[in-house]
Amino acid sequence: MPSYEERSIIGKQIVITGATNGIGKEIARAMARRGADLTIVARTESKARATVAELSAEPGAAGRLDYVLADLADLSSVRTAAARIVASTPKIDILFDNAGVHSFEGGTTRDGYELMAATNHLGPFLLTHLLLDPLIAAAPSRIVVTASEAHRAAARLRPEDFAEPLRHSAIGSQPIYGRSKLLNILFTEELAHRLAGTGVTVNSFCPGVVASGLIRGSRVISAAARTFSHTPLIRTPEQGAQMGIRLALDAGLTGTTGRFYTSTPGLRFLPAVPARRDDALRTSMFDRSAELVGLH
Ligand SMILES: NC(=O)c1ccc[n+]([C@@H]2O[C@H](COP(=O)([O-])OP(=O)(O)OC[C@H]3O[C@@H](n4cnc5c(N)ncnc54)[C@H](OP(=O)(O)O)[C@@H]3O)[C@@H](O)[C@H]2O)c1
Repeated sequence: MPSYEERSIIGKQIVITGATNGIGKEIARAMARRGADLTIVARTESKARATVAELSAEPGAAGRLDYVLADLADLSSVRTAAARIVASTPKIDILFDNAGVHSFEGGTTRDGYELMAATNHLGPFLLTHLLLDPLIAAAPSRIVVTASEAHRAAARLRPEDFAEPLRHSAIGSQPIYGRSKLLNILFTEELAHRLAGTGVTVNSFCPGVVASGLIRGSRVISAAARTFSHTPLIRTPEQGAQMGIRLALDAGLTGTTGRFYTSTPGLRFLPAVPARRDDALRTSMFDRSAELVGLH
């Protein structure tokens, strides 16, 4: 059996969000190069088209590459996209819930939710649920969630108000972003539990600190990142993508589920944050999320 570095995935059906830039584009590139069929879920049509053209030209890209438009911050758009994917792709081998945003100004979505909770958690929560049938049909199949060590800086997480709109400063954005990433990890853990016995695994990871478009909203932080991008402290998107690629392809991880993997050496020795040890919080957060996105 070849290691996941060389593994061919010709004929595998892959769906990925956030592949028009940064870490997601590098994960998508790795999948395209190994010959997979790839559906990119993107909010900007021009970027989606350009990404499909770019990835189709990669060496080894033999699969069908296409895109479906969806704004993850808009639940009706997520529903429409999911219906399109299900209609064209009856089996999904790997789903990457990767897209994310760090908003420095904050905002409220059309559905009335806090922007980062909606984009980073509620949209992917709904999309994943709507794609469960094709994932189960393809079992053994995998869901890979791009979370973050930033979850350690999370604001207090309460199921009753985590998605409530709020105002915050650029500095105050960090705990709100961190909370959305904590939601990614709790979602992963709880979904793994609920999918036990289906053959679908779900794991999350932190890519490290990556020079991507994530911080484009802050000129100060972007300038600092440009300075540090010449040091080993900041990774390239390609480096940041490696753990996600491994979680998707490593045969040694067959059956591994509900785990959070960090890419930063040493950080795996840090204890889990208290919210990750609170089973009641995790299940009530999950149930509340289902309610907020209209799943019953
Ligand atoms: N960069 C880091 O240091 C770091 C560290 C830890 C975790 N992460 C996580 O890594 C993931 C990828 O981020 P990145 O660093 O690669 O950032 P990025 O370069 O800004 O890429 C983000 C991707 O998400 C898409 N996206 C954003 N909002 C969306 C929405 N409402 N609907 C649909 N797609 C949307 C973007 O689409 P557009 O191209 O249209 O904007 C883009 O493709 C995120 O989940 C982030 O939280 C990043």
